[in-house]
Amino acid sequence: WIAGVAGLAIAYLLGSTPTGYLAGKLLRGIDIRQHGSKSTGATNVLRTLGKWPALAVLLVDVLKGVAAILFARWFYPWLYTLPSVTPPAALDPQTCVSWAVCLAGLAVLLGHGRSIWLNFTGGKSAATGLGVLLAMSWPVGLGAAAAFGAVVAVFRIVSLGSMVAALTAIVLVCGLEQPLPYRLLVIAGGIYVIVRHRANIQRLLAGTEARLGADRSIR
Ligand code: G3P
Repeated sequence: WIAGVAGLAIAYLLGSTPTGYLAGKLLRGIDIRQHGSKSTGATNVLRTLGKWPALAVLLVDVLKGVAAILFARWFYPWLYTLPSVTPPAALDPQTCVSWAVCLAGLAVLLGHGRSIWLNFTGGKSAATGLGVLLAMSWPVGLGAAAAFGAVVAVFRIVSLGSMVAALTAIVLVCGLEQPLPYRLLVIAGGIYVIVRHRANIQRLLAGTEARLGADRSIR
């Protein structure tokens, strides 16, 4: 079980890589957590640093989610090839691997939202969540991305798009033929992403949430 937990720790550390924070420090010498929405995500990088840094951060954050799932899919089956590692008697190795991959998906989301390098602050895990979805089941990932695109195109509010995308992923994963561990990962991950947006929800209700292109805090 120590190796199993080590795999989750690696996924968490991958998620913890503070992409948006590093972009702020390296490009402008600022702590992005003191600007805009205070998130380290690509949306806040867009409003504080501009579109190219935001695009780079978005890409890397999505890739963190993809990489965590690919890593877990390689690591856990490999673990069971070791003579000293046996799955719990009640579960077959394939089922154990599926659950471990899902936990790695949650670990990378947690790492992005609560980075060990940033005093457990970070982003809202939407981009990393998209990466997890795409790597686990591309139809669910594409469906969530399409919902995000449609909402942002109409309302120009990224947080609303992220939350609708999280809900869409939950609906899709429950409606499509998907294994139970993956369903639970998407439901738990989707709820996590929405909870991380609670300040945005308050601003949306108050009618003060920033629209794309409407605010550039330090540019
Ligand atoms: O993925 C984060 C986005 O949904 C909202 O970001 O900076 O507007 O809170 P922000």
